[in-house]
Amino acid sequence: MNEVKDKVVIVTGAGKGIGEGIATYFAACGAKVVIATISNQEGEELQKKLTDKGYQAYAVQTDVCSEESVINMVAKTEQFFGSIDILVNNAGITLFKSILEATLEDWDRVINTDLRGVFLCTKYVAQSMIKHASHGSIINISSNHAFRTLPDTEMYAAAKGGVNAMTRSMALSLGKYGIRVNCVCPGFTDTYHYQNWLADKDNPSQVEADVVKLHATGKISTPLDIAHMVAFLAGEASSNITGGEFMVDGGLTAGLYHADKF
Ligand SMILES: NC(=O)c1ccc[n+]([C@@H]2O[C@H](COP(=O)([O-])OP(=O)(O)OC[C@H]3O[C@@H](n4cnc5c(N)ncnc54)[C@H](O)[C@@H]3O)[C@@H](O)[C@H]2O)c1
Repeated sequence: MNEVKDKVVIVTGAGKGIGEGIATYFAACGAKVVIATISNQEGEELQKKLTDKGYQAYAVQTDVCSEESVINMVAKTEQFFGSIDILVNNAGITLFKSILEATLEDWDRVINTDLRGVFLCTKYVAQSMIKHASHGSIINISSNHAFRTLPDTEMYAAAKGGVNAMTRSMALSLGKYGIRVNCVCPGFTDTYHYQNWLADKDNPSQVEADVVKLHATGKISTPLDIAHMVAFLAGEASSNITGGEFMVDGGLTAGLYHADKF
């Protein structure tokens, strides 16, 4: 996918999981990757891993909840690589907790990271893209929880539903500057989170088999599956696509109910 070769891309929350997968894929495609993540250690480790392979990568410690930190992320990227072509708003936290027990602090933590973070990063990156006439592409990593959800996920579902709604408005607001905005909605994705979640179950291998059965493709996603969709939305092949919501979930969310149970 050399459409993104030499493009400057910021990936938030790129320290691990899906963000690491996206950053690594873009770097391998020849993009100049900014690893914008809250953990300095994770950022520097990934920077080393990528630059050791001869890829171009630069870690900027960033907290997407903090306006000051996001302004610094944009300034450092401009200093290091020049203008910004692509922003991937990936940083997010997943906190599932009963609404009867969740605190306002829990609510603020999820909403500030998963929703306010997308607002802040897009605001300052879009300003930079307009300043440099970059005609950029912004991709928000949402979730299938924006469409269908489960008990005890109110905070996460609200944040991700908000990301999808905001994506549509951002696409309309920024279109006149040649900036496209889309969101990608992963379902189960094989990250350490998923592995920890499985490991906590009484019978992990049975749960894993049950999860896989929910997928029309017979498999959950990998970070690389998400990266492929993000790269498509970042490149010229998607030049007339904006305001879209793209599920990458092996058909999981297409189902009305679990057909095998009826
Ligand atoms: N893993 C899944 O199955 C799955 C499914 C659907 C959607 N998603 C979404 O994909 C995105 C990535 O998920 P993941 O599972 O890879 O997460 P993860 O926890 O593995 O990684 C998240 C990364 O974001 C960083 N981060 C956390 N708070 C931050 C902040 N305030 N500022 C900057 N960086 C911060 C973390 O340090 C980490 O590097 C999230 O938006 C998540 O909601 C994940």
